[in-house]
Amino acid sequence: SRRDFSPAVVVGTGYGAAVTALRLGQAGIPTVMLEMGRLWDTPGDDGRVFCDMLNPDRRAMWLATRTQMPLSSFLWLDIDRRIERFTGVLDCVHHGDISVYVGRGVGGGSLVNGAMAVTPKRATFAEAFPDVDSDGMYRTYFPRAAAMLGVNHIDPAWFETCESYRYARVSRAHAHNAGLTTTFVPSVYDFARMRREEAGEVPRSALAAEVIYGNNHGKRSLDKTYLADALGTGCVSIRTLHHVRAIEQDADGTYVLTVDELDLDGTRVATRQLGARYLFLGAGSLGSTELLLRARDTGALPGLSPLIGRDWGPNGNVMVGRANRPRDRTGTVQSGMPALGIDAWDDPRHPVFAEVAPMPAGVELWVSLYLAVTRNPERGLLTYDAGSDRVRLHWLSGQAQPSVDQAKALFDRLNAANGTEYRSDLFGDTRVFETRLTYHPLGGAVLGKATDAYGRVRGQRRLYVTDGSLVPGNIGVNPFLTITALAERNIERILAEDLR
Ligand code: FDA
Repeated sequence: SRRDFSPAVVVGTGYGAAVTALRLGQAGIPTVMLEMGRLWDTPGDDGRVFCDMLNPDRRAMWLATRTQMPLSSFLWLDIDRRIERFTGVLDCVHHGDISVYVGRGVGGGSLVNGAMAVTPKRATFAEAFPDVDSDGMYRTYFPRAAAMLGVNHIDPAWFETCESYRYARVSRAHAHNAGLTTTFVPSVYDFARMRREEAGEVPRSALAAEVIYGNNHGKRSLDKTYLADALGTGCVSIRTLHHVRAIEQDADGTYVLTVDELDLDGTRVATRQLGARYLFLGAGSLGSTELLLRARDTGALPGLSPLIGRDWGPNGNVMVGRANRPRDRTGTVQSGMPALGIDAWDDPRHPVFAEVAPMPAGVELWVSLYLAVTRNPERGLLTYDAGSDRVRLHWLSGQAQPSVDQAKALFDRLNAANGTEYRSDLFGDTRVFETRLTYHPLGGAVLGKATDAYGRVRGQRRLYVTDGSLVPGNIGVNPFLTITALAERNIERILAEDLR
């Protein structure tokens, strides 16, 4: 019996996957993308595709019966809600001391993220990627990625007067009082539309608490950019609710994927095999590393590098809130898309890049919230557990201490200069610095280590990694622009050399 076959298969539909599929399609190579999540294009009974953060329903979470807000409490009151189990858009993957947030659906993380498109500091990039020509990245691939993703910049005049970023202006003033530098953050959310949202001319999305469970308007997620273009080539198709479980190889070198097909409740309805000549893994740091570890350790692809599973990190993520004085109102309408960061990355002892995050509750909270990226040299390890056929992430809470120390130095300074205090009611207990979660899982199949300098998996031919797995644990800024630019660079070379 002949199984289904495609010359090229891309696993996942996030940043690395979307770039790769578009460039394969443009080269005329028939390509199938396999995505475990659904396509988010169908309105629910309320006429909206996605639910918002204040009224979560089954669309919010991937196969969970409870929401898992990154801020799990307010005044120590639990703010999570019971929901119906469904193939929702945000997954929170628990691994011991850390929970990893990822997007599920066509577009991957682009569906749920804060849209911040930040270019890393050149020195940090060069340190993370000694095998990559930084000149080429900063001249060609970062600009290409930004243009393709639809990155735009806030109108500074509007920022000064709008209600939506009152919270960011308050944080900026406090940062400046402490002698810190702030910077605007480019975005893939359409700022012109946001402005019309505030003016009441169009339905609100960024201004209506739509962030981590998806945006109904305004965000240029991958389904509207790279993936739309990829489908437009006529060579690319996307199979949704297709969960890749395992990879092996035939005697003739064909890759054989075992794929579970799911229904919208997440129930497996079929398991089929798909053959591929060229296989690109874009399932994200956890997803791609899991597939490689399982293939290596079960003996399906025995030649894979012992470096697979190493160099994992949470990008030094720390969340922290500050209590403002009564006169410093942060506003009842807050844009869910951050537009400002405190840039202390070049501080030699306490490097921090802290985005000023919203707390869109619809009422005044007098809270300033931050998601900080710190410089944490600690690394986690992913291993395959044969008994459960699952991957384990080894990351201990103590490994986050360097991140806490760096964040504490910066925010102590902010509080001292402004007579403010930390909030200790936001993370379920009385902790001030939340490091038990990450939005930025990175590493596991690092470029130049587990792969060659272009993402070709060592020990195999025609097998590639295209996503955040390539980035060694910490890149100093929010990572999707880096992932996109690297994928552009790598697929250009692979098309020229491997797929002529
Ligand atoms: P990504 O995770 O995007 O995509 C992987 C895809 O593969 C997913 O669609 C997944 O369902 C699918 N998949 C996984 N395993 C599979 C399998 N076995 N079979 C089939 N499909 C499979 N970054 C940033 O730069 N700016 C920001 O503002 C933010 N904000 C932010 C907020 C939140 C809430 C989150 C969760 C994340 C962010 N991020 C962010 C991080 C950013 O979204 C993230 O770094 C990228 O999406 C990672 O891109 P990848 O290509 O690595 O995979």
